[in-house]
Amino acid sequence: MQRRRVAVLISGRGSNMASLIEAARAPAYPAEIALVVSNRSDAEGVKRARDAGVTAIVIASRDYSDRLAFETELTRTLETAGIEIVCLAGFMRILSPTFVRRWYDRLINIHPSLLPAFKGLDTHARALAEGVAEHGCTVHYVREGVDDGPIIAQARVPILPGDTPETLTARVLIEEHKLYPVALARVAAAMQAEHSHERFGIKLS
Ligand code: GRF
Repeated sequence: MQRRRVAVLISGRGSNMASLIEAARAPAYPAEIALVVSNRSDAEGVKRARDAGVTAIVIASRDYSDRLAFETELTRTLETAGIEIVCLAGFMRILSPTFVRRWYDRLINIHPSLLPAFKGLDTHARALAEGVAEHGCTVHYVREGVDDGPIIAQARVPILPGDTPETLTARVLIEEHKLYPVALARVAAAMQAEHSHERFGIKLS
């Protein structure tokens, strides 16, 4: 089985990145984490990736004059590494329509809410303020709108009496770490199926 080559883009702690690296250790997992890219040099996840034996590089967005220059370097790096799927995991930069189109259906994100509810930031505090009964996380394909795009998988958690943004964040994060590897496997396996004819030397027009 040929495993799809995946890059994980981070800006911070990298706990979701770590869960993807861990899942991809299984020989039967349909993807390998070939590269981690951080747009911040101080991201904790960079060390975490390297400690796990994964190549991690910093492309510091602040060193680039504009978004286009940053994304040009990012895409060049991803292409050079032969990356086929890009996972956003706490990546705190909005990506341009050009970048999103380049990686169309190959670019996925994890968001801490049950989309389409609570797009944007501070999702846990907003869910509590609204008094919803349940909350959760979503992995979705990235489209031009922020936190928009077809849903790949979701996980739900109850909101419990006495919850604070911190307790709710922790409960959702446990689910994020399970959900992202499942969703990535789904995307990679679907690509695998798309490419299966190549194994038999069949060319489809
Ligand atoms: C996660 O809650 C993720 O859903 C959101 O940013 C957070 C990143 O955490 N997009 P980590 O860097 O993966 O630990």
